[in-house]
Amino acid sequence: MRTYLVTGGAGFIGSNYINYMFKKYDNEIRIINVDVLTYAGNLENLKDVEGRENYTFIKADICDRDAINRIFEENDIDRVVHFAAESHVDRSIVNPEVFVQTNVLGTATMLNAAKKAWELPDGTFKEGKKFLHVSTDEVYGSLDDDPTAFFYETTPYSPHSPYSASKASSDMLVKAYMDTYRFPANITNCSNNYGPFQFPEKLIPLIIHNALEGKKLPVYGDGKNVRDWLYVEDHAKAIDMVQEKGRLFETYNVGGHNEKQNIEIVKTIIDILREELDDSDPRKEHLNYDLITYVADRKGHDRRYAIAPDKIKAEIGWEPETMFKDGIRKTIKWYFDNQEWMEHVTSGDYEKYYEKMYSNR
Ligand code: NAD
Ligand code: TYD
Repeated sequence: MRTYLVTGGAGFIGSNYINYMFKKYDNEIRIINVDVLTYAGNLENLKDVEGRENYTFIKADICDRDAINRIFEENDIDRVVHFAAESHVDRSIVNPEVFVQTNVLGTATMLNAAKKAWELPDGTFKEGKKFLHVSTDEVYGSLDDDPTAFFYETTPYSPHSPYSASKASSDMLVKAYMDTYRFPANITNCSNNYGPFQFPEKLIPLIIHNALEGKKLPVYGDGKNVRDWLYVEDHAKAIDMVQEKGRLFETYNVGGHNEKQNIEIVKTIIDILREELDDSDPRKEHLNYDLITYVADRKGHDRRYAIAPDKIKAEIGWEPETMFKDGIRKTIKWYFDNQEWMEHVTSGDYEKYYEKMYSNR
């Protein structure tokens, strides 16, 4: 049975990936989920897989060399899927250091541990071992409004935020391991994900949450920044397909072909929520475009991200399957039906974060 070591599996994409993998492979695989459970890690996301004999959760920090080495020593790991990271741009602007720590040094720790466990005395690697580093299209910088311009795997790196700089650094480390040691890895750079279990500091769940609470809907700058939205389950499938069918040492861009301006997203969420709410629901009266509030722009705000997922389609046969209009409806319905999940993740520390980040906007 193949054993996967997933880092950051209690976060948004990692938990969707684990849920997807057990739905697809059931008892054919074993997954060890290593997560230190920061504010963004939530084991509630994994309640469907808890109790499985072929699933293990280990609370550990990817920067803790001894703990990570021990996991490799005690388990014959075949695949690593490395999600664990600090992932929010706004937080990286306020506190860049933890991004360097987790995203750069944590990735170095993961690479070293996998290399140590997998390397043979002649410097080659054990058959079938693979490391997949999950990264972002933000490493490529920002596109202007020209709709024919896209990010390709060959686009030079030009990160702007501390978050994207830390992810670019981690990508470079993975590339260095591949080039220097022929370490068996792939990198995927994907666009903005959306779907269930996303922490409501990111645009889509934040807007859904605020709209249901009748709070202002903060739109940065002119609201015309463009993101290319990828449904999280399509992303989970892409990661699996890259490990199954991709060429080792290659980078694959994963994008949704769903470019939208932020303001369009916010209005769509309001429209769909109004449809979901019963006429008798008191929240409906205030849930309208008047909640939209333009606030101070994000520092260094990238204008547009857009991926051309041509390579992954041509080589692997992966394509985004979820159209934005369907994915956003499914997503909103999920948050609507899981308001308890939202209450749990927004209590306590998140309240303080929200006050701090938005009080002077
Ligand atoms: P997330 O913030 O929801 O989850 C990150 C997870 O990593 C959490 O469970 C957290 O507890 C864990 N973690 C953080 N620091 C850790 C550490 N030191 N040791 C162990 N675990 C730690 O992030 P996400 O949105 O699920 O993103 C996952 C990956 O995908 C990240 O590498 C991110 O850069 C990348 N990515 C995300 C998006 C997106 O739209 N969300 C887009 C492109 C790329
Ligand atoms: P976000 O979800 O933080 O993802 P990223 O910065 O990684 O792309 O933001 C998506 C877009 O939405 C981005 O252009 C910033 C904007 N945004 C707002 O307008 N208001 C908000 O409250 C947030 C969190 C983001």
